[in-house]
Amino acid sequence: MKHDQSVELFHRAQQRIAGGVNSPSRTYQAVGCATPVFMASGEGAYLYDADGNRYIDYLCAYGALVLGHGHPAVVAAVADAVKKGTVYGTPTRSEVEFAERLCELIPWIDMVRFNVSGTEAVMTAIRLARAATGRNKILKFDGCYHGHSDLVLVSAGSGSSTLNIDDSLGIPPGVKADVISVPYNDPTSLRNAVTQYGPEIAAALVEPIVGNFGIVPPEPGFLQLLEEQMRQCGALVIWDEVITAFRYTYGSIQQVFGLSPDIITLGKIIGGGLPIGAYGARKEIMQLVAPLGGMYQDGTMAGNPLSMAAGLACLEALSEPALYDRLAKYAAILVEAARTAAQKHGIPVHIGHYGGSLSIQFTSERVIDFAGCNRSDSAQFGRFFRLMNEKGILMPPSKYEALFVSAAHSEADIAQTAEAIEASFAQMAQD
Ligand SMILES: Cc1ncc(COP(=O)(O)O)c(C=O)c1O
Repeated sequence: MKHDQSVELFHRAQQRIAGGVNSPSRTYQAVGCATPVFMASGEGAYLYDADGNRYIDYLCAYGALVLGHGHPAVVAAVADAVKKGTVYGTPTRSEVEFAERLCELIPWIDMVRFNVSGTEAVMTAIRLARAATGRNKILKFDGCYHGHSDLVLVSAGSGSSTLNIDDSLGIPPGVKADVISVPYNDPTSLRNAVTQYGPEIAAALVEPIVGNFGIVPPEPGFLQLLEEQMRQCGALVIWDEVITAFRYTYGSIQQVFGLSPDIITLGKIIGGGLPIGAYGARKEIMQLVAPLGGMYQDGTMAGNPLSMAAGLACLEALSEPALYDRLAKYAAILVEAARTAAQKHGIPVHIGHYGGSLSIQFTSERVIDFAGCNRSDSAQFGRFFRLMNEKGILMPPSKYEALFVSAAHSEADIAQTAEAIEASFAQMAQD
């Protein structure tokens, strides 16, 4: 596979864009490639790079795309919206319709606020929890990623771990002092943190199913315990559903767990591939948000008409019956392919899996927390990534990230990917 155009573009990018990328997760540094692949277009399940190579895409824009690239209904909605102008700085009908639809599909929230990224949504949800409780500390889990605002970059996973930056520079000690980070799926650490800091905790912030140190579902009872502990100490629970909502079910993953979180954060999928973030909660909490209350959040691009149009069209397309079953069925085929190939070729792997997403980590242990993911073999992951890439399969370039199946993947794409997995493991066994 030739990558001349990507090499040339990366050379130019490095002169004018810090590190040559606008998001550090886009480098291929962690998988042993000097140059990331520059994509030129996407269509359905495929991405085409600047040299014309085709890839079956499981990156799916880090989970933002659940319908695949350029879904006709989303494209038509955006094309229609853009003819009417791009942003008005005034309220619009589409914001109302989208907010109504989200609250209908996520019945545990009464109101939402839109902004333009998951980062913003989480940052504001934290402020809201602090406003509601009058407390400052936030309990989070090691390796969960919640965007790049100061507070949540303490012990963050995902792109920052990929580059070994678990704690970013530039975060004031005062901010760090307000973060309590404990291992995910560890009841003892959770209880100890609550014993020590309970009355100071404003909220616990959690990915209900982790997608940022591989796919790691909660151990049975863990989310329940978290909720009980927060109730006992008078703190709120924020579910960061930037990845999980509309990825595994048609709405919030709360439908599966039946728990009662207080605040939700959303992003990625709900924008149909356009920039978006949102947070929502019951009315009594949302009444604190200005101009109803004294917690301030603003945004020139918040609720912009293009994202609203794309998001509404995306939600409509996702209502297709049995869609989520299909995504899960296809992911299960890939999981099975990886397990079989690993066994056949004697390569230890842990496969994180939930619904239509999966992660492959080279380790003989069952990964249930960030430390487990850290211990998995990065060099072997890099080799696997490169072998798959040569076969036209695009995975995220990091052992911390997940592969996502989209509605655009066909049975033939999945079969081709399963074959590529087998062939790559066979090659690795010969190394
Ligand atoms: C769970 C979670 N929350 C928040 C974010 C931040 O979203 P954004 O990249 O849109 O700022 C991400 C991004 O990967 C995420 O995975």
